[in-house]
Amino acid sequence: MTTATPELPTLRVGMLGCGTVGSQVARIITQQHDDLAARTGAHVELVAIAVRDASKDRPGIDPALFTQDAAGLVARDDLDIIIELIGGVESTRELVATALSRGTSVVTANKALLAAHGAELTGIANQTGADLYYEAAVAGAIPILRPLRESLVGDEITMVMGIVNGTTNYILDQMTTTGADFDDALAQAQGLGYAEADPTADIEGHDAAAKAAILASLAFHTRVSGDQVFCEGISHLTAADIEAVTRLGFVLKLLAVAQLTPEDQVSVRVHPVILPNSHPLSSVHGAYNAIFVESREAGRLMFMGPGAGGAPTASAVMGDLVTVARNRKRGVAGHAPSGYTDRVVAPMGGTECLFYLRFDVDDKPGVLAQAASVFSRRGVSLQTVSQIAKLEGPAGHEQPLATLGIMTHETQEQVIQECVAELQAEPFLHGEVRLLRVEGMA
Ligand SMILES: NC(=O)c1ccc[n+]([C@@H]2O[C@H](COP(=O)([O-])OP(=O)(O)OC[C@H]3O[C@@H](n4cnc5c(N)ncnc54)[C@H](OP(=O)(O)O)[C@@H]3O)[C@@H](O)[C@H]2O)c1
Repeated sequence: MTTATPELPTLRVGMLGCGTVGSQVARIITQQHDDLAARTGAHVELVAIAVRDASKDRPGIDPALFTQDAAGLVARDDLDIIIELIGGVESTRELVATALSRGTSVVTANKALLAAHGAELTGIANQTGADLYYEAAVAGAIPILRPLRESLVGDEITMVMGIVNGTTNYILDQMTTTGADFDDALAQAQGLGYAEADPTADIEGHDAAAKAAILASLAFHTRVSGDQVFCEGISHLTAADIEAVTRLGFVLKLLAVAQLTPEDQVSVRVHPVILPNSHPLSSVHGAYNAIFVESREAGRLMFMGPGAGGAPTASAVMGDLVTVARNRKRGVAGHAPSGYTDRVVAPMGGTECLFYLRFDVDDKPGVLAQAASVFSRRGVSLQTVSQIAKLEGPAGHEQPLATLGIMTHETQEQVIQECVAELQAEPFLHGEVRLLRVEGMA
């Protein structure tokens, strides 16, 4: 706590949205006024807040600040900074673009907006000399974008891999620790407020894909949009998948993975991954987020913390607000991320990784060799082949079944998909081939 100096200039801030995150940001700006003044060299004054319903009771916030006219707010001439905490894409894009084109700096937590229109909005900010900061858009409170764009900018990042969606991490963690099936774990997540009534964006991986696009763009100095990210969610995973993975000494996580390929392209993907128990990301439990970065010089780094929630996310927004306020006071703009490498996004089919496959076959001599030949014909080298369980055959089928588990060496995605398609057509195979990608073995 410090004493504010009245002669400091005033930076006028408008806010869009005052919900889970916005209400916390409004609280901190008000409560920390003197400290913010000391840290920025300016009085940071919240002058207006646009909301959907201005008549709602919002304790602790001056009712005179509220307006329902968001378009009018961003068009005001007397604002230095807009904090965007409404969410959504198209209408918010309009609001943010208007603010930036008028030279008003913007702080936002909106990953979907950045993943869809980040390049365009960055371009407008560059033209007008405004700042566009969005630390809270990826992994809530965890400082990860600033390390990528500042601390590690002199290094060469080769991979960013992270748990960037707390809801799915909670669901998979529950399935692993309690044996719950997917629907029960999802219901628990909804009961605790970790998952929304419509959980699609989380469980189908779309939220993580937007974050993966932002991470890849910053890490590899290129431009990746959300629709270029390969995306597979967790809703198809079963308690049997988790049990098999656990027995193997691995753990199942939904990861966002962005890495440089040997061809200097960028592979960006979101999908369930099995990690060995020894990997640092494997011990990230509950709704926590964590991001693992590998760079040529620094080596391996890990960032972990709360990936969502009003106050944690507001902490990241406030960090950006102070930075932007300092820039504003000094009359400069922070360095915008550059897309100078313009790297190609690698097609998923060409991506290489290790795979773990599990499937039921007739338990009779020769079947194992037939299954193995599906892989060998395509040059896929197998690390381990094991019989996991013996089962009774389905009704009307005399033959007992055996569950096989196969771990491959590094293999191209399209080749493994061909193997799966061929296996699936074999008469000795029963049910579905379960395919999981493996990371963290190097
Ligand atoms: N919640 C988190 O943990 C978290 C974490 C990281 C990032 N984020 C991001 O932060 C942003 C805000 O999330 P949130 O959870 O705080 O959302 P929220 O609780 O749903 O709040 C949204 C706010 O926007 C206002 N609003 C909606 N439509 C509007 C419109 N057309 N004009 C003016 N105001 C409008 C709402 O007004 P009313 O109050 O009148 O309804 C509400 O105050 C999103 O981009 C989200 O992805 C959230």
